[in-house]
Formats: sequence, structure tokens, C-alpha cells
Amino acid sequence: MISTVNHRFLLLCGESVQICVSIDLRIAAPGSRFKLVTTPTETCPICGGTGWQTIERGKEREAVRCECRVRDRGGRLLAAAHIPARYQHCELSNFQCDPPGPPQGRTIMAMPEKALVHGQPADTYQKSIRDARFFAGRFVEEYPTDKTGLLFVGSVGVGKTHLAVGIIKDLIREKGIHCLFCDYRELLKSIQNSYNPSVQATEMEILRPVFDAEVLVLDELGAVRSTEWVFDTVNYVLNSRYNDNKTTIITTNFPDKPEQDKAEVDNLSSRSAADRAARRETLGDRIGERMRSRLHEMCKKVEIEGLDFREHSKQAQFRRHDAPSRVTLRSTKRNG
Ligand SMILES: Nc1ncnc2c1ncn2[C@@H]1O[C@H](COP(=O)(O)OP(=O)(O)O)[C@@H](O)[C@H]1O
Ligand SMILES: [Mg+2]
Ligand SMILES: [Zn+2]
Repeated sequence: MISTVNHRFLLLCGESVQICVSIDLRIAAPGSRFKLVTTPTETCPICGGTGWQTIERGKEREAVRCECRVRDRGGRLLAAAHIPARYQHCELSNFQCDPPGPPQGRTIMAMPEKALVHGQPADTYQKSIRDARFFAGRFVEEYPTDKTGLLFVGSVGVGKTHLAVGIIKDLIREKGIHCLFCDYRELLKSIQNSYNPSVQATEMEILRPVFDAEVLVLDELGAVRSTEWVFDTVNYVLNSRYNDNKTTIITTNFPDKPEQDKAEVDNLSSRSAADRAARRETLGDRIGERMRSRLHEMCKKVEIEGLDFREHSKQAQFRRHDAPSRVTLRSTKRNG
């Protein structure tokens, strides 16, 4: 017996030629003598393999890129965006605006309306998360008419990188924009490495893609302790993109406040450890005041206040599933 399986293949011939072919694979049943027959039956039904389709605009006819090409460009751009594996799952569509809680039907609330988070009502936090999701979606819709970037500010785990990655994925898929994800620490480390004579890449080779990307995500700005060199390098990167009118989406864990008074800082060093710990470093301290104010010209600030999503979902999961099994574990141990 022979069964027919229809497969669609995209044949890629260099960058410019692409033929969409659908072939019938006829596969013999197990036990009989194996025979595979391939018969090309179809090219892309829209463009016939040319990559162009004509559309009517009033009385005019216009040639535009065929869908099959746009899809393929999307795949290439996604790969070229260098989104790290740990953020591959991040999409605007799976960003939750409500905190992770128990499944429907249960009465326990993960974050009741009146609960306090860092001493403030939980609903304030939820609002800032909803607003952040809203601004992310609007950014995708309005780009490139509005090329103002975004500056996501908030503590660890509130979803800043998730939103930034979700934005560039949608820009790539929906608008074919050339985007790049860049981890601030890794960027500075690679640049520093390039000064080592045994390393092949030059500083310019490392920076070229960062300058060229139409939309750049610069993740964890300020995460490297500030030195003159760090200030100069951030200055170079951000000013180059500013001068080229290119969009930058930034995330930072540091509060967006001016550089703190050095005298006050010195004074603090003579105070107790508790005093010093209470004084949180600001974005101004980490990248310099000049750069911080440049950021405000380049980006709209979006502050996210909330809990670490991972911690919170672990707790919610614990409430749902793990609590009984722990008890079981303990009683098993005692018995065993
Ligand atoms: N609102 C949310 N909905 C779904 N996943 C979230 C949300 N916020 C955070 N996460 C997930 O939690 C993890 C930490 O989020 P991340 O964006 O890295 O935080 P941040 O960059 O603010 O430190 C990621 O795996 C992310 O996908
Ligand atoms: Mg992050
Ligand atoms: Zn086509």
C-alpha cells in the first residue's frame, strides 16, 4: 500500500531566489519494498515564485513583495536580532497583566485588592504593569511614525526585558524592522576584550551592529560599575544612535534619578553599613548625569512597579500544588 503525504518546502537559493514548492511524498507501507517518489506540483500560489505580487490601488496596479518573502525575511531578522535563549519565550501576547494566581474556581487570591506590596496597595502595582504593556503595544503600532524609544525602569523581575523582547519580535514580524538585542554588560565586556591583542575583533567590529540596528534593545543599562571608561563608552553608543535618529529601547534596574551628591556619598561612607545600604545607587550615578538627560531626549520613560514575577509565580504554584506534597515528603521521611 502506498500513502501520500503532502509537504511544503521553501527552497532558498541565495538571498534573492526563493521557490515555494509543495511535493507529494509517496511512502510505501512498512514491510513492502521502500520507494520514495517526489513530484513538484505547486509553486507559491500568490507570486508563482517571483517574490512579487501586483495589487490594485484605485486604477493603478502596484508591485509589492509577496507574503512568502515577508515571512522569510521575518525569520532571518529574528535570527539576526540575537535574542538570548532565556528570553525566547517572551512575547507581548503572553505578558500577563494580572499577577499569577490560583486556577479559576479557587477562592484564595494571589494578590488581593487590599494587599500591600512594598507598603503600597497592590492595585497600584497592577496599574503600572498594565500601563507598561499598553505603552509597549502602542510603540509597535506607532513605529516608525513615532521613533521615540522607551526606557523601562523597575526592580528585578517585573517584566522589563520581557516587554522589550516582545516589542522587537512584533516589530520584526509585523513591520520587517531590523532589530538587535544587546546585553549592556556583555557589550562592555566584548569591547574591553577587543583591546586584548590576541582577540581578533576590533572595537568597531563589535560596535558596528549596535550602531546599525534600526531598533536596539539595550538591556540592563547601568549594570556595570561606573568608571570614566564606562561613561565614555555609553556616551559613544547612545550619542551615535541619537545623532543617527535611531530608536533605542532601554531597560534598567536603577531608579531614574540624578547623580547623587558626591560629598553626601563620601559622608555616607563614614556612616554605618545600614545607612550605606539604604542609599540606593541611581541611574545618574551609573551612567553619568549627561547621559541620563540625553536618554530623556531619546526615550519615553515607563516605570514598572511590582513583584519579581518569578518569585510570585513560584509562590502561587506552591500554594496550588506543592503544599500537600511537602507534607507528604516530611511524613515519608519520618516514616522511612
Ligand atoms: N507580566 C508578566 N507576564 C509573563 N511573564 C512575565 C511577566 N513579568 C515577568 N515575566 C517573566 O519573568 C521572568 C523575569 O522577567 P524579566 O522580563 O526578565 O524581568 P526584568 O527584566 O524586569 O528583571 C521572565 O522569564 C519573564 O518572561
Ligand atoms: Mg531584565
Ligand atoms: Zn510568494
